[in-house]
Amino acid sequence: MARTKLIFGNWKMNNTLAQAEVFCKEAESISALAEKKGVEAGVAPTYLSLAYVASHKAGLNVYAEEVHYADHGAFTGNVSVGMVKEAGATGSLVGHSERRAYEKETDFDCNLRIKALLKAGMGAMYCVGETQKEFDQGWTKDIIESQISTGLLGVSEKDLGLVTIAYEPVWSIGTGKNASEAIAEDICGYIRSLIEKKYSEAAANKIRILYGGSVKPINIHGYLAQEDVDGALVGGASLTSDSFKELIENI
Ligand code: 13P
Repeated sequence: MARTKLIFGNWKMNNTLAQAEVFCKEAESISALAEKKGVEAGVAPTYLSLAYVASHKAGLNVYAEEVHYADHGAFTGNVSVGMVKEAGATGSLVGHSERRAYEKETDFDCNLRIKALLKAGMGAMYCVGETQKEFDQGWTKDIIESQISTGLLGVSEKDLGLVTIAYEPVWSIGTGKNASEAIAEDICGYIRSLIEKKYSEAAANKIRILYGGSVKPINIHGYLAQEDVDGALVGGASLTSDSFKELIENI
């Protein structure tokens, strides 16, 4: 079964509502281009533009960048799964390395968030990846294994259908220091083997595993040509409709 490639934009703390409105004027043409290329496209805007983007998405997938695991309660500054669902998102990123680094999110926190999303029938894009130091020490696969096994604790094979994995080596994010295509393929393939071991061959063949980290229009094709790389999670190059279209054009 062929997996449809997915190009996903993580806007991080970029794009005001006004800028999101400008982007959305091109949502239809981005979707049309994605369809022509036989790929899927999506974006994760900030909470403040989530509802707007979700109601002008014209076929794009729209995820939140983050959710809390509790339904509601005394969690100042946080947003629940139900709230992003009501705003029109169909899923959320979980465990982005910036959340792990600046907000001290652990693999266990990620697990709670993933389970809260799945319980609501929402998608979870689980981000994993090693730091520069871990890479230098040759620990990448050990780190990934523990992120995957803890993050997916208690997730059933049926629910795994709502999960996407994004491999984002921390040292390649926003640095222009891309992981080579060979590294991306090696680690995405390794993640698939972990899924096969934990679940089944069918689950491993079905799950989408993306690469992220300094993906640009000029290098996206090489990543997507890899067997086990099912798409890209893109930061900087996903912010404008022109650049987003260029990403898809170059596949
Ligand atoms: P850049 O594409 O800006 O390196 O960001 C990658 C990323 O963190 C996407 O989640």
